[in-house]
Amino acid sequence: MKQENWTTQLGVIMAVAGSAVGLGNFLRFPGQAAMYGGGAFMIPYFIAFILLGLPIVWAEWTLGRYAGIRGYHSASGIFRCVTGRRSMAYAGSFCVTLTTIITSFYVFIEGWCLAYALRYFFGWMGHGADRNFSKLFIETAGLEGNGALFQNGLMNFNLLCMVFCLLLNYVLIYRGIVKGIEWFCSLALPALLVCSLIILARVLTLGNPTGIEGQSIIDGLGFVWNPSQPNKTLWESLSNPETWLAGAGQVFFSLSLGFGVICTYASYTRRNDDIVLSGLTAAAGNGFCEAVIAAMMIIPAAYIFLGPAFLTPENLNSSFAIGFQALPEVFHQMPMGRVFGFLFFFLLFLAAVTSSISTLQPAVTLLEEGLQLGRKSSLTIAGMITTFGAFFTAYFTKNLTALDTMDFWVCNVLIFMMAEVQIIIFGWVLGTDAGMAELQHGTQIRIPYFFRFIMKYVSPLYLLVVFIAWVYLKSSEQLDKILQNPVVQLSLGFIAFVAIFNLVITSQALARWEKQEQLDKNTSDWEI
Ligand code: ALA
Repeated sequence: MKQENWTTQLGVIMAVAGSAVGLGNFLRFPGQAAMYGGGAFMIPYFIAFILLGLPIVWAEWTLGRYAGIRGYHSASGIFRCVTGRRSMAYAGSFCVTLTTIITSFYVFIEGWCLAYALRYFFGWMGHGADRNFSKLFIETAGLEGNGALFQNGLMNFNLLCMVFCLLLNYVLIYRGIVKGIEWFCSLALPALLVCSLIILARVLTLGNPTGIEGQSIIDGLGFVWNPSQPNKTLWESLSNPETWLAGAGQVFFSLSLGFGVICTYASYTRRNDDIVLSGLTAAAGNGFCEAVIAAMMIIPAAYIFLGPAFLTPENLNSSFAIGFQALPEVFHQMPMGRVFGFLFFFLLFLAAVTSSISTLQPAVTLLEEGLQLGRKSSLTIAGMITTFGAFFTAYFTKNLTALDTMDFWVCNVLIFMMAEVQIIIFGWVLGTDAGMAELQHGTQIRIPYFFRFIMKYVSPLYLLVVFIAWVYLKSSEQLDKILQNPVVQLSLGFIAFVAIFNLVITSQALARWEKQEQLDKNTSDWEI
């Protein structure tokens, strides 16, 4: 199979930044920041960015390029290539499980974004006195009950949007690394930046449109950046372990860390490409999009129009509430709200597509490597699984149980585990000296020496502590749900199916790699 490479360094940066910048930046980050004390949340977020984010980003880039130039692109192949161990190929297959499951529910939310963008575009939001944005969201997400979206077969606007999103993802992946992913991200990312800067400029010039004291743009920005809030001191925020978990979780979700996406993308770079710069630029660009643009745009807008009482954990119990339930009200009250509403949801849609193509690619890559299939056949199989997953999520919409279960077990538990595996491979199997030498090949940037210490000891330990605290605080509630809710059991069944499928494909890949290595060895023995 012909080896593909990104055409330019900017192209790969766009692709990786595209994978990172997504719903996590524009919906999840403002929701988390608002829930965990506004400005106080920035402290654990930035600490996790430096101690976990950057080190693991660089570790993934290193592993990916190292294995890519040796012909491996799937997480299974990359982990085995770097460690030389079969078991690590099986560990890598869980990255592919993670990304396949994420694609399955992410495309469902992508459909909401497109549906909202189209509603604004065609003026279907219902802005009159009888408007009811909460009801609209309930209908969009199918919250009334399982199967609510399927009452008229497939003829539901939101389902049709989801199907369009699925098809768009498949077409882009079918076009390949360069003509699909690189091309789309190079167009979508600048468009997304322009849309977001226009909305940001609008929000920053709002002044005090409601005339309510204490609800001006300056007050809204104060909520984003002041570590201490009138109703919550800095100490109150930081002494809550959940604030630290949320900071780390946000860095992971948002940077697409531990997914195996960065290492898969990095495996298409060339030996002399500057991966330090690419990793740094993509991570910094992602941070800028959320900690600067999204934070200063969405939180102050909600603060101005809905008041500080809205930005509390009670109101923000779902990461997506702020986007789909609150922001239409904000746009409704904002001059030219229909235009800004369209721009915002279109921005979300673009951001979501650049992320979901990145989470679909690893499954296609594993099938290509494992079964030696062409892109079309691999995509057909990966497409069938993710289409099933998307419809599964769209069917079991009551309380969004299927989505939340997949999000919990995959995005939290599996991401932490896979990130831990990758940083340990970097720091302990490859070794920090060899790893750093490999990482810094082709760059002019000198990474400070103390980063070796961070990557070997601090990051794995920090991850472990966060993970244990997280399991301690959250898992019992989830275990109860498993025992009581059949939809949770079905969702876990789907995750288990995908995991077993990827393990089987990995075993096929291993058999092929080992056969090839034996053949190569025999040939070289014969030549001697
Ligand atoms: N990193 C992607 C996001 O932030 C998954 O949405």
